Amino acid sequence: MPLPALTITTPAGSYDMLIGPGLLDSLPEHLARLGLTGRVWLIADAAIYAGQAVPLLARLHAAGLSAQGFAVPSGEQSKNLAVAAELYSWLIGGGVERRDAVLALGGGVTGDLAGFVAATTLRGLALVQLPTTLLAMVDSALGGKTGVNHPLGKNLIGAFHQPRLVLADVRTLATLPPRELRAGWAEVIKHGVIWDAGLFEELEGRQIACDDAAIGKLIRRAAAVKVAVVNIDEREQAERMLLNYGHTLGHAIEAAAGYGAVLHGEAVAIGMELAARIALGMGMFSQGELERQRSLLHKNGLSTAIPAGLADADLLERTLRDKKVKQGTIHWVLPVRIGAAVVRSDVPDALVAEVVAKAARTTT
Ligand SMILES: NC(=O)c1ccc[n+]([C@@H]2O[C@H](COP(=O)([O-])OP(=O)(O)OC[C@H]3O[C@@H](n4cnc5c(N)ncnc54)[C@H](O)[C@@H]3O)[C@@H](O)[C@H]2O)c1
Repeated sequence: MPLPALTITTPAGSYDMLIGPGLLDSLPEHLARLGLTGRVWLIADAAIYAGQAVPLLARLHAAGLSAQGFAVPSGEQSKNLAVAAELYSWLIGGGVERRDAVLALGGGVTGDLAGFVAATTLRGLALVQLPTTLLAMVDSALGGKTGVNHPLGKNLIGAFHQPRLVLADVRTLATLPPRELRAGWAEVIKHGVIWDAGLFEELEGRQIACDDAAIGKLIRRAAAVKVAVVNIDEREQAERMLLNYGHTLGHAIEAAAGYGAVLHGEAVAIGMELAARIALGMGMFSQGELERQRSLLHKNGLSTAIPAGLADADLLERTLRDKKVKQGTIHWVLPVRIGAAVVRSDVPDALVAEVVAKAARTTT
């Protein structure tokens, strides 16, 4: 029984997200339904090219579509203008036309990069997101943010470009490294804390080794949070900021450890613990709920301790630097209870310093 589609509605139009095991098998029918009958340009993460992109191309060919693929080297270092330029040459050199479609098969890196290339080639080609990481399924493939990194910072060059369809085939997760999967669960838990107490409770009751059908349902519920937020607010601010829960100190930890040493989701998990402690210190969140959040993160194999070797002063300085960029105010996303969060810009620096000083540290 397929799960009901989620519909994303933006001023630029609306589109569906479909979630379930084996959905890539029916991709040709979905393209036909959307009127995408031109050529198909599949941009895929190199790690899954042989295992997932090649069979998908075969399926598209069998359906009579003209399709070709490009393998993007895995990892954040591919999300830049140089790789985008290679993709422009591939598309334009291959005679791409306005009626063609770009398919992005991979995690957030592939989705952001391919999305940006689709947004900017011939002033905008149709885009279909085919996320293959848990993070991409519940977050990055939705909402239309695309972009690449600049040497001076992440995601500084980009465009809003909504996909025509997001199709999340949960079977693709079978090959995802366990650490990447755990990092994805941090985002799912985050969605429960900021918006959906029922999702949080389902996660508390979940068997860690659950099947594709159960994972599909949880992904749908977590993606629905992003959809709700994006539907309210396509271009940032207000509700969309809630998705940054755990990010303020999480980003500082990610950067201080050196990008890649701590995965984004792992840093967000630690950032959620610290933000919840700040909320406790502000008198707006309870000790009991803080412990529920911590237990759920631990149950999913996520640490809530700051990695050894990161100095308090460094973390605070990085957080403060963030503050300078935003005209002197840090917008902290803080939980008020499981299922609801608010944005606060009146958190005293001294409280942040105290929470960081008292936080648990890993010993290695
Ligand atoms: N656009 C947005 O709204 C948005 C939101 C959040 C994050 N992001 C971006 O997303 C990126 C992170 O995304 P991510 O965590 O998916 O990282 P990623 O795309 O780098 O994927 C993580 C790793 O998993 C591998 N991989 C992907 N799918 C696989 C599969 N099915 N089997 C085996 N290996 C697989 C990749 O090769 C990579 O090594 C960042 O660049 C971030 O800026 C964007």
